[in-house]
Amino acid sequence: MSEIKLPEVELNIYTPKNPAEVKVVENEIVTRESSPNIIRHITFDISGTDLVNRIRIGQALGVLPPGKDERGRAHKLRLYSISSPTAGENGQPHLISTTVKRVIEEFNDKLYTGVASNYLADLKPGDSVKVTGPSGRRFLLPENARDFNYIFFATGTGIAPFRGMIQELFEEKYDHDCVLIFGCPYRTDLLYADYFEEMSQKYPNFHYLVSISREDRREDGSKYYVQTQLEDESELLQPILARENTLIYICGLKGMEEGIYKELINQELYEYLEIKKKLPGDVNSMDSKEFKRSVKPSPRTFEEVY
Ligand code: A2P
Repeated sequence: MSEIKLPEVELNIYTPKNPAEVKVVENEIVTRESSPNIIRHITFDISGTDLVNRIRIGQALGVLPPGKDERGRAHKLRLYSISSPTAGENGQPHLISTTVKRVIEEFNDKLYTGVASNYLADLKPGDSVKVTGPSGRRFLLPENARDFNYIFFATGTGIAPFRGMIQELFEEKYDHDCVLIFGCPYRTDLLYADYFEEMSQKYPNFHYLVSISREDRREDGSKYYVQTQLEDESELLQPILARENTLIYICGLKGMEEGIYKELINQELYEYLEIKKKLPGDVNSMDSKEFKRSVKPSPRTFEEVY
């Protein structure tokens, strides 16, 4: 198996005390059809900052929303994953993108709107934004990225890094297999779907699977989740997972990793995990706390959940 060597990255060139100012060049809804979940692709021009050529796909940027909270303190920075490849959006090193969902929630009959996400979603081309970073040193493609196969699991805006990683892998000749498994509630929430469908038409070694959770049910009555593809699409996935140069990446909802790890155990794919404690015969019955203590990702599994 090829050695997994992660590239050296620079961290926090800009900090909350010393942020960079970048300009919005594009802010577009990224779902193909109209959806109550508003998700936008936002591109920044980082020209003139020290961020140019110093951000790798898989890293995140901090955003400092202006204004103060109800206690009069400056808003905290929020991290957003980069969704453009290391070479920049459309190969332009001075352009970087991110993928943002407007956070709108009702809790105890009160409406809450996420400060940073709604600030970003409202921005227009030409507006300035204060950013920090880059951050993240582990959720990266290896230096020898094209020596590996990949299974990418994404829920919702967890798709962001995979958009850039897929662009990066297929920029040059790549002849291993790359599978993207994307989960969202409704078909109207598919993100960057035109791009991924086009890629799967163009490259037989790129596979795009979607798990729509709230439309249909699986035969046993359970929801279609990203991890259920391990069972439902085992003909495609098992041979890829069995190769020793396959890596798993997981990005999105906190908790999604548990279902994936349990299914990997059910399929005896232990090489993607580190088992810290003896497991019961039926791991599905383990509660989250106990499972987390017992099972960790191995060096072949990368996880970024929030
Ligand atoms: P659901 O909410 O129907 O249970 P979004 O971020 O756009 O809301 O999408 C998140 C997707 O991840 C939804 O389809 C959601 O399904 C699904 N999801 C929720 N919990 C889990 C989990 N534990 N494992 C995998 N997928 C999950």
